[in-house]
Amino acid sequence: MKQIAAQIRDVSDFPKPGIVFKDITPLLRDPAAMHQAIQSMIAPFQDHPITVVAGIEARGFVFGALVASQLRVGFVPLRKPGKLPYQTQQIDYDLEYGNASLQIHRDAITEKDRVLIVDDVLATGGTALASCQLVETLGAEVAGCSFLLEISALQGRQKLAAYTLHSVLQYS
Ligand code: PRP
Repeated sequence: MKQIAAQIRDVSDFPKPGIVFKDITPLLRDPAAMHQAIQSMIAPFQDHPITVVAGIEARGFVFGALVASQLRVGFVPLRKPGKLPYQTQQIDYDLEYGNASLQIHRDAITEKDRVLIVDDVLATGGTALASCQLVETLGAEVAGCSFLLEISALQGRQKLAAYTLHSVLQYS
């Protein structure tokens, strides 16, 4: 864990004054630490009958695609509106300040799928909860959610109490 944590950089006042941003780009640049991170993200789900991984735009694509490859299942992107070219299903949700939407291709998953949701960060949990609900609107089951890091003080875990959650690193 120390090797992974050492490659996550705190950047003060980004994207706004007063916010300390967790920059994962040094981790992406370090193959050994990245390998450890992906292994740690999949560890609790190794023996689950997961059929597909859904990754949340944008950094969830990087981690999600590697997790999917490691689990030998396919990858589905959950995207911000206007990015997916085919027929989409959309969910609108509230953020701490304002609101947001995510879309999925309607034919990307079916009611037979057991989906692992992947993202880099669990903060307030709004994005991850919307992702779970979006997958469920297509009839699939959420097998769990896996994150590289969790900002515990923002209590996203409580919002996602109905789901199996895993985060590799926790920050207060
Ligand atoms: C960040 C992060 C998660 C989300 C977590 O994404 O990658 O997707 O916020 O926040 P929440 O738990 O409070 O919902 P961001 O909106 O910065 O998008 P990006 O990855 O496209 O930069």
